[in-house]
Amino acid sequence: MGAEEMLVNVPLFAGFGSAELKRFARNLYPRKHQAQELILKEGEEAVGFYIVSSGQVEVVKNMGGPKETVLATLGPGDFFGEMALLDGYPRSACIRALEDGECLVMSRWDFLAQLKSSPDLAAQVLRTLASRLRQTDVALTE
Ligand code: CMP
Repeated sequence: MGAEEMLVNVPLFAGFGSAELKRFARNLYPRKHQAQELILKEGEEAVGFYIVSSGQVEVVKNMGGPKETVLATLGPGDFFGEMALLDGYPRSACIRALEDGECLVMSRWDFLAQLKSSPDLAAQVLRTLASRLRQTDVALTE
Protein backbone atom coordinates (compact mmCIF):
# COMPACT_ATOMS: atom_id res chain seq x y z
CA MET A 1 0.00 0.00 0.00
CA GLY A 2 1.35 3.48 -0.87
CA ALA A 3 1.62 6.29 1.70
CA GLU A 4 -1.40 8.14 0.30
CA GLU A 5 -3.68 5.05 0.43
CA MET A 6 -2.55 4.39 4.00
CA LEU A 7 -3.36 7.99 5.05
CA VAL A 8 -7.02 7.62 3.98
CA ASN A 9 -7.55 5.39 7.03
CA VAL A 10 -5.60 7.56 9.50
CA PRO A 11 -7.88 9.46 11.94
CA LEU A 12 -5.46 12.41 11.84
CA PHE A 13 -6.56 13.02 8.24
CA ALA A 14 -10.29 12.39 8.65
CA GLY A 15 -12.16 14.54 6.12
CA PHE A 16 -9.03 15.55 4.17
CA GLY A 17 -9.29 15.73 0.38
CA SER A 18 -7.09 13.83 -2.02
CA ALA A 19 -4.94 16.91 -2.83
CA GLU A 20 -4.11 17.46 0.86
CA LEU A 21 -3.34 13.77 1.38
CA LYS A 22 -1.06 13.81 -1.67
CA ARG A 23 0.80 16.87 -0.32
CA PHE A 24 1.34 15.19 3.04
CA ALA A 25 2.24 11.77 1.57
CA ARG A 26 4.97 13.33 -0.62
CA ASN A 27 7.03 14.11 2.49
CA LEU A 28 6.69 10.70 4.17
CA TYR A 29 9.16 7.87 3.88
CA PRO A 30 8.67 4.28 5.14
CA ARG A 31 10.82 2.90 7.95
CA LYS A 32 10.57 -0.77 8.91
CA HIS A 33 11.24 -2.00 12.46
CA GLN A 34 11.59 -5.35 14.15
CA ALA A 35 9.92 -6.62 17.33
CA GLN A 36 11.60 -5.14 20.43
CA GLU A 37 13.45 -2.49 18.41
CA LEU A 38 13.71 0.96 19.99
CA ILE A 39 12.28 3.34 17.43
CA LEU A 40 12.73 6.46 19.62
CA LYS A 41 14.81 6.91 22.76
CA GLU A 42 13.70 9.07 25.67
CA GLY A 43 16.02 12.09 26.05
CA GLU A 44 17.21 12.15 22.43
CA GLU A 45 16.95 15.13 20.14
CA ALA A 46 13.90 14.92 17.88
CA VAL A 47 14.22 14.74 14.11
CA GLY A 48 10.97 13.20 12.92
CA PHE A 49 7.23 12.63 13.20
CA TYR A 50 5.90 9.05 12.89
CA ILE A 51 2.63 7.46 11.78
CA VAL A 52 2.28 3.73 12.49
CA SER A 53 1.39 1.89 9.28
CA SER A 54 1.65 -1.66 10.65
CA GLY A 55 2.39 -3.42 13.93
CA GLN A 56 1.87 -2.34 17.54
CA VAL A 57 4.36 -0.14 19.43
CA GLU A 58 4.42 0.95 23.05
CA VAL A 59 5.28 4.27 24.70
CA VAL A 60 7.66 3.57 27.59
CA LYS A 61 8.85 6.02 30.24
CA ASN A 62 12.03 5.38 32.29
CA MET A 63 12.88 2.28 30.27
CA GLY A 64 15.19 -0.17 32.00
CA GLY A 65 14.87 1.58 35.38
CA PRO A 66 12.91 0.65 38.50
CA LYS A 67 10.16 3.07 37.49
CA GLU A 68 9.69 1.75 33.93
CA THR A 69 6.10 2.44 32.90
CA VAL A 70 4.18 1.71 29.70
CA LEU A 71 2.14 4.86 29.06
CA ALA A 72 0.26 3.66 26.00
CA THR A 73 0.12 1.14 23.17
CA LEU A 74 -0.25 2.53 19.66
CA GLY A 75 -1.22 0.74 16.45
CA PRO A 76 -1.85 1.36 12.75
CA GLY A 77 -3.20 4.87 12.14
CA ASP A 78 -1.81 6.29 15.39
CA PHE A 79 1.01 8.83 15.44
CA PHE A 80 3.89 9.64 17.79
CA GLY A 81 6.92 11.91 18.02
CA GLU A 82 4.97 15.16 17.82
CA MET A 83 5.68 16.39 21.37
CA ALA A 84 9.42 17.04 21.05
CA LEU A 85 8.90 18.59 17.61
CA LEU A 86 6.34 21.00 19.03
CA ASP A 87 8.06 22.06 22.26
CA GLY A 88 11.72 21.70 21.22
CA TYR A 89 12.62 19.55 24.23
CA PRO A 90 14.11 16.02 23.98
CA ARG A 91 11.94 12.94 23.41
CA SER A 92 9.60 12.51 26.40
CA ALA A 93 9.56 8.68 26.26
CA CYS A 94 10.88 5.66 24.35
CA ILE A 95 8.91 4.02 21.59
CA ARG A 96 9.46 0.26 21.52
CA ALA A 97 8.12 -2.06 18.82
CA LEU A 98 5.99 -4.93 20.12
CA GLU A 99 6.13 -6.69 16.76
CA ASP A 100 7.65 -6.36 13.30
CA GLY A 101 6.07 -3.42 11.50
CA GLU A 102 6.50 -0.16 9.68
CA CYS A 103 6.09 3.57 10.29
CA LEU A 104 5.78 6.48 7.87
CA VAL A 105 8.23 9.19 8.92
CA MET A 106 8.30 12.91 8.19
CA SER A 107 11.17 15.29 8.96
CA ARG A 108 10.81 17.92 11.69
CA TRP A 109 10.96 20.70 9.11
CA ASP A 110 8.26 19.18 6.88
CA PHE A 111 5.98 18.38 9.85
CA LEU A 112 6.14 21.93 11.22
CA ALA A 113 5.61 23.37 7.72
CA GLN A 114 2.54 21.12 7.19
CA LEU A 115 1.09 22.21 10.53
CA LYS A 116 1.53 25.87 9.61
CA SER A 117 -0.16 25.42 6.25
CA SER A 118 -3.08 23.28 7.49
CA PRO A 119 -5.20 24.50 10.43
CA ASP A 120 -7.26 21.28 10.10
CA LEU A 121 -4.16 19.16 10.63
CA ALA A 122 -3.08 21.31 13.60
CA ALA A 123 -6.56 20.93 15.14
CA GLN A 124 -6.44 17.12 14.74
CA VAL A 125 -3.02 16.94 16.39
CA LEU A 126 -4.33 19.11 19.28
CA ARG A 127 -7.41 16.89 19.60
CA THR A 128 -5.22 13.81 20.02
CA LEU A 129 -2.95 15.60 22.52
CA ALA A 130 -6.05 16.59 24.56
CA SER A 131 -7.34 13.02 24.48
CA ARG A 132 -3.96 11.62 25.63
CA LEU A 133 -3.79 14.21 28.46
CA ARG A 134 -7.32 13.23 29.49
CA GLN A 135 -6.29 9.55 29.65
CA THR A 136 -3.21 10.48 31.69
CA ASP A 137 -5.41 12.46 34.12
CA VAL A 138 -7.65 9.43 34.58
CA ALA A 139 -4.65 7.12 35.14
CA LEU A 140 -3.15 9.55 37.69
CA THR A 141 -6.32 9.71 39.73
CA GLU A 142 -7.27 6.02 39.60
P1 CMP B 1 7.96 12.73 21.75
O1 CMP B 1 8.17 13.29 23.12
O2 CMP B 1 8.50 13.48 20.60
O3 CMP B 1 8.57 11.25 21.72
C1 CMP B 1 7.91 10.24 22.52
C2 CMP B 1 6.47 10.20 22.10
O4 CMP B 1 5.65 9.34 22.86
C3 CMP B 1 5.80 11.58 22.34
O5 CMP B 1 6.40 12.53 21.49
C4 CMP B 1 4.37 11.22 22.08
O6 CMP B 1 4.11 11.11 20.70
C5 CMP B 1 4.31 9.81 22.71
N1 CMP B 1 3.71 9.90 24.05
C6 CMP B 1 4.25 10.45 25.17
N2 CMP B 1 3.40 10.33 26.20
C7 CMP B 1 2.30 9.69 25.74
C8 CMP B 1 1.08 9.26 26.31
N3 CMP B 1 0.80 9.47 27.61
N4 CMP B 1 0.16 8.63 25.52
C9 CMP B 1 0.44 8.41 24.20
N5 CMP B 1 1.59 8.78 23.60
C10 CMP B 1 2.50 9.41 24.35
